[in-house]
Amino acid sequence: MGMTKRDFLRSVGAVAGVGAAYHTMSALGLLGPAEAQTAAPDFPLGSGYGKHVVILGAGISGMTSAYELSKAGYDCSILEASNRSGGRNLTVRGGDVIREVDSRQWVDFDREDHLYANMGPARIPYHHRAILGYCKEFGVELEVFTNDNRGALFHNTERFGGQSVVGRQVMTDLRGYIAELLAKAVNRNALDDELTGDDKERVLAMLTSFGGLDPDHLYIGSNRGGYQGEQIHTGLAPGDVNDPLDFGELLNSDFWQYKLHFSQFLNQNPTLFQPVGGMDAIPKAFQARVGHLIHFGSIVEEIRKTPRGVRIVYRDQRRNATEAVEADFAICTIPAPVLKDIPSDFASETQAAIASIEFVPAVKIGFQTRRRFWEEDHAIYGGISWTDQDITQIWYPAYGYHRQKGVIMGAYIWDDRPGQGLRYSQMTPPERLKAAMAEGAHMHPGYADEIESGVSRAWPKVPFQKGGWPENYQAPAALQQPDGAIYFAGDQATALPGWQEGAVLAAHAAVNAIHARVTAS
Ligand code: ALA
Repeated sequence: MGMTKRDFLRSVGAVAGVGAAYHTMSALGLLGPAEAQTAAPDFPLGSGYGKHVVILGAGISGMTSAYELSKAGYDCSILEASNRSGGRNLTVRGGDVIREVDSRQWVDFDREDHLYANMGPARIPYHHRAILGYCKEFGVELEVFTNDNRGALFHNTERFGGQSVVGRQVMTDLRGYIAELLAKAVNRNALDDELTGDDKERVLAMLTSFGGLDPDHLYIGSNRGGYQGEQIHTGLAPGDVNDPLDFGELLNSDFWQYKLHFSQFLNQNPTLFQPVGGMDAIPKAFQARVGHLIHFGSIVEEIRKTPRGVRIVYRDQRRNATEAVEADFAICTIPAPVLKDIPSDFASETQAAIASIEFVPAVKIGFQTRRRFWEEDHAIYGGISWTDQDITQIWYPAYGYHRQKGVIMGAYIWDDRPGQGLRYSQMTPPERLKAAMAEGAHMHPGYADEIESGVSRAWPKVPFQKGGWPENYQAPAALQQPDGAIYFAGDQATALPGWQEGAVLAAHAAVNAIHARVTAS
C-alpha cells in the first residue's frame, strides 16, 4: 500500500515527537534552511559525548543551548558575568536590589504574589511556539496577557485639550469616519474604475457594517464607542450615545501612527501570554535544569581561537582570579554593545557586524499603587494607555484583579522619538520616578497620591547588557555563521530582536550547527 509523504511524516511525528518529524523533514529536504536550522534539537543520547562547549551568557539563549546540548551528552559550561540567570528577563519583587552602572535600587513593593514587575520581556505571542514549547515542557503556568484594552486611554498633550480619550471611542470614531469617506468616494463614482455596480453595493454594505454608518452612509456616532455619563453602557433606560470625537483632532493626534493598530502587528496580536507570577518563571525553570553548569560572576575578558577550538579568558569575581577555559566550541550570547569591546580573535567582518548592532535604549518603570484606581475609577482591566509624552505608555496588570493594590508599568520607553530613552536613562532613579509620575498625572489626575513606591530599569545602564534589544530587524549575516569554532546566539542573531522566541531560535540554530559539524567530523 502506498504511503504518502504526509502519512509518513505523521507517523514519524506520532512515534518520535515533533522534533524527530522536523529532522526527518529536514533530511527529506522538505524544510527551508531557516526552519531546519531552528528546529528543536533532538539528538541521540550520548552523541555529544567527549565534546566541550563553553557558553557565554546564562540568559534564555545560553540556557536553552546548555539544556539541549547536555541532553545529548555534550559537556557544557556557562560563563555568566552577573550573579543571576535570565539576562534581560528580569522580574522584580519587594526586597530585591537591582543595579545599574551608577546606581542601586531597593524594590520596596509589598511581598504579595501579585505585586511584581517584569522589567524585561513581559508578553509572549501565541505563535512563539519555541518558547511556549519550553513553557509546556517545564510546566510553566501561563495566563493571558492583555495588550489591547478598548477601555484604556489615548493621550496627546496637544489634542483634545490635553485630556485623555477612551480607546473604544477613538477606534469606533476613526473607523466610522474612514468608512464615511470611502462611502462618499464610492457614491460619487470616484472608484468606478475599480468597482463594478454590484461590487459598489457590496462595498457600501460592508462600509456601513464596518464603520457603523447610518442609512445615508454618514457617521453620526455609534453606541460601539459607549454612552454619555459615568455608566459606559445602558441600564434600564436607553442612554445617549457619545458624540463622535472631532475628526480633525483625531487626524492631528499621533494615535494612528502605530498606537491605534498596535495589536495588528504580528508579534502583538492576541492571544498573548505571561507566566503566572512573573516572566522569570521561565529562566527559573531553565536554571532548575542547567543551573549546575553556570559559573556566576565570570566576566569574559578575551575570546580566542585555538587549534582545538576556543579559549575564553575570564575574571572570576567570586574567587577574585583570572581564569581561562578551553573548549571545542563556544556559543556566544553576549549582547553586541558589550561584546564589541571584548578583545577577541574575531575576523574583521565579524567584528564589524557586532559593532553595527545598536541596541534600543529601553526604559521601564514599575509603580506599586495603594489602590487599583484604574479598575475602580475607569473600569480598565489590563491593557495599555498610550501618550505622546516620554513615558509612552502605562500598562495595567492583567492579574490580581480587584485586589487592594497593584503594580503598573508607569513608563515603557522604546525611544520612538529619539532621545526619550536616553533622557530617562540619564536621570537618577528617584528623578525618573518623579518625572514619570508628573507625566502620568496628565492621564490619571491625582496619580502621584496613588503611588506608594517605584523602581526603574534603564537598560542602557545595565552592566553586561547596555541596552534593550537590537534596533535592526535582521541580524547581520556574519552573526548567523560561526567564526572558527565560535557560534553566535541571542535574539541579536535573528530576525526577532527583543523576543525570547528569537533567543530560543538562535540557540537552536547554534546547537544544530555544532551538532552537524560534530557528526560530520
Ligand atoms: N518584544 C518587546 C515588546 O513587546 C520589544 O515590547
